[in-house]
Amino acid sequence: MTAKTYKRYLITSALPYANGPLHLGHLAGVYVPSDIYTRYLRQRDRDVISVCGSDEHGVPITLKARKEGITPQEVVDRYHGINKKAFEDFGITFDIYSRTSNQVHHETASEFFKTLYEKGVFIEKTAEQYYDEEAATFLADRYITGTCPHCGNSSAYGDQCEQCGTSLSPTDLVNPVSTISGSKPVRKETKHWYLPLDKYEPWLKQWILEEHKEWKPNVYGQCKSWLDQGLHPRAVSRDLDWGVPVPVEGADGKVLYVWFDAPIGYISATKELTPDWEKYWKDEETRMVHFIGKDNIVFHCIVFPTMLKAEGSYILPDNVPANEFLNLENEKLSTSRNWAVWLHEYLEDFPGKQDVMRYVLCANAPENKDNDFTWKDFQNRNNNELVAILGNFINRAIVLTHKYFEGKVPELTSLTEQDQATLKEIEIIAQSVERSLENFRFREAIKTAMDLARLGNKYLADTEPWKIIKSDPERVKTILNIALQISANLTLLLDPFLPFSMEKLRGFLNFEGRSWDLIGTESLLAPGHPIEKASLLFEKIEDEQIEQQLEKLHITKEDNDESAEATPLQPEITFDDFTRMDLRTGTILEAEKVPKTKKLIKMQVDLGFEKRTIVSGVAEYFKPEELPGKKVSVLANLAPRKIKGIESQGMILLSENPDGTLHFVEPSEKAVNGSEIN
Ligand code: 2FM
Ligand code: ZN
Repeated sequence: MTAKTYKRYLITSALPYANGPLHLGHLAGVYVPSDIYTRYLRQRDRDVISVCGSDEHGVPITLKARKEGITPQEVVDRYHGINKKAFEDFGITFDIYSRTSNQVHHETASEFFKTLYEKGVFIEKTAEQYYDEEAATFLADRYITGTCPHCGNSSAYGDQCEQCGTSLSPTDLVNPVSTISGSKPVRKETKHWYLPLDKYEPWLKQWILEEHKEWKPNVYGQCKSWLDQGLHPRAVSRDLDWGVPVPVEGADGKVLYVWFDAPIGYISATKELTPDWEKYWKDEETRMVHFIGKDNIVFHCIVFPTMLKAEGSYILPDNVPANEFLNLENEKLSTSRNWAVWLHEYLEDFPGKQDVMRYVLCANAPENKDNDFTWKDFQNRNNNELVAILGNFINRAIVLTHKYFEGKVPELTSLTEQDQATLKEIEIIAQSVERSLENFRFREAIKTAMDLARLGNKYLADTEPWKIIKSDPERVKTILNIALQISANLTLLLDPFLPFSMEKLRGFLNFEGRSWDLIGTESLLAPGHPIEKASLLFEKIEDEQIEQQLEKLHITKEDNDESAEATPLQPEITFDDFTRMDLRTGTILEAEKVPKTKKLIKMQVDLGFEKRTIVSGVAEYFKPEELPGKKVSVLANLAPRKIKGIESQGMILLSENPDGTLHFVEPSEKAVNGSEIN
C-alpha cells in the first residue's frame, strides 16, 4: 500500500494501436483492472481522472494502409471509432478517449521534444540505414525482410524473426529486401536523435530498485533485468512520413518514434479533458498509475519516466501494475491467426452480458503469470458463481420480502449473536476488498467481494426464514431486513466490478446510494422502504452456447490457417530432439466425420500394441470411407489433446503441397503396425 496519501489520482491505460479491433486479452490485461480501480476511487469520492485514447502512429498502421490501398488516417479513423465504442459497450469509463493523430497531441508531443532538444538532452547521431532507391525512402525495420542469420527463416523482419523470436537489426538480415518495392535496399547515412538512457541509469536504479520495491514482482523483475544488463541510448526519431514531424531544422521526412509520442498521449488527453490538466501532471500530490500489459513495461517504467525526468516539470508514475498475458484455450492469443475473442463479436453473441465477461476476466486475471481463458471456465463461473451465489441470494431475499411483507423492507426487531456477527462481517469484507484494490490485487478483491454474497446465502440457509414464518414472523422480519441490507451493501461493493448488474440491482432495491463510505452502515434501507419485484440478475449459460463459441474459434482459425503462407524451415534441432519423438507405423481401422466441422475426421488407428483415437483435419481431401485400411505414420507420444470434445491420442503425419493439398506419409505395405520409424 502506498504510504503517502494523495490529493488526486491520474489513471492512464495503455493507448491501444488503432490498427485492429480489441479482444479479450486487451480487456483482461489492462482495461478491466484500470476501470475497476477508477470506479473504486470515484466511489471513494477521490479526485480521479482516467485517460486513454488510440495510439495512431507507428509502422504497422502505415503497413496496413499500404496493404489496403487507403491512407493511414483512414485506417486509424476506422479503428478509433470501433475501439472507442467497444470500451463504452463494456462499461470502461474513461474520462476521455482521445487519439494521437489530433492536433493537441501533435502540438504537445512536438513541444515536449523541443524542450528536451533545447535542454541538450538528446545525442544527435548519423548512422547508416537501409534506403529503398526505387521508392526513394528510408526503410523502417518492419519494411525490410530477409533471411534470419540464426534460424534461416527467409521471411524474418528487420527488427525480429518471428520464427525463432530473436530480435534483430536490419543489417543482420541476409539478402534484405524492401517490402515496398521488392528491391534490394542500399545503406545510406541518416541523422537521428537519441535519448541517452545510459546517463539516467543510476537515477533509474535508485528510483525503481530502491524507492519502488512495492511494485509487482513481474514489473520490478523486468525493470531490474533491464537495468542489470545496462541501458543504451535509444533513437527517438524515425524516417517515416506518418507521425509527429521532428520539430527541428534539417529533419525533413523524419517523425518522432511512436514510442516517444504515444505516452505523451496521456498528457495530451488530459489537456484535452481539462484546462486544469497541470495539477494532474505537475503536482507531487497526484498519484499517477499506469495500467499496461507486460510488453509495455520497459516503455512505462524506464523510457517514459526518463523523458519526464529529463523534461523536469512532470511527476513520475507511482505504480505500474502491469499484467501478464491471457491465453485462449491454451494457446497464445493471435490477431493474425484469428485466435481471439473479439469484443464486438462477444457482445453480438452474448448481448447484455458485459458483466459476465468483466467478472471472468477479473476473477481469472493474468496478474502474476500468463493465464488461460477457456469457454468452459467462463460458463462455470457464470453458472456456479454469478447465478448460483450472487443471483440466487438476491433473488431469495427479494422474493421472500414480497411473499411475506408485500415488498416492503421489514423492521429489525431484536438481534441474535449470529445477526450481529453477520452485520459485522460486512465491514470486515469491505475492508479486505479495499486493501486488495489499493494494492492492485483485483483477483483477490473480486473473490472477497463475492464472499459477501456467500455470507448472505449462508445466513439465509442457517436461519431458514421459510420454515419459521408461521411460528415466528417477528424473527423473519429481522432476517429479511438483514438479507436486504446485505443486498444493498453488495450494490456498493460490487459496483466497480459489475457495474451493469449493480445498476439493475439498485433498481430492484430502489436504492441510490453510491458512496463507498456507506458500506457497513447497518440500515441502508429503512423499514417500510419499497422493493421492486426482481427479475433475474444473471442467466445460466447452456452447453450449446459454449460449444458454438469453441466451434467458431476453431472454424475461424482453420479458415485463417488455410490462407497462411507456406512456412519456412524450422529452427535446427539436435539428434536428441528427434529421438524424443516416438513415430510408429499404423493402419486406419475406422473413420468418420466430426459433426459440425468442415475439416475434421475422427479415426481409429491400429498401432499393433494398441488402438488409438486420432482426430485429424483432412476431411477436405479424403472421404471417411476411403480411409480404412490405409497405412499411416503416427506421432505416438504426442500429449493427448481434446479436439471438439474428442480426445485425440496422437497425430497422423501428412505432407502438404504448395497448393495446400494433403497426403498421408505412407509407410511401405511391408511395415507392420507398431513398428518404429526412425
Ligand atoms: O502496445 C500497445 O498497444 C501500444 N500502443 C501501447 C502504447 S501505451 C502508451 F504509451 F501510449
Ligand atoms: Zn530466426
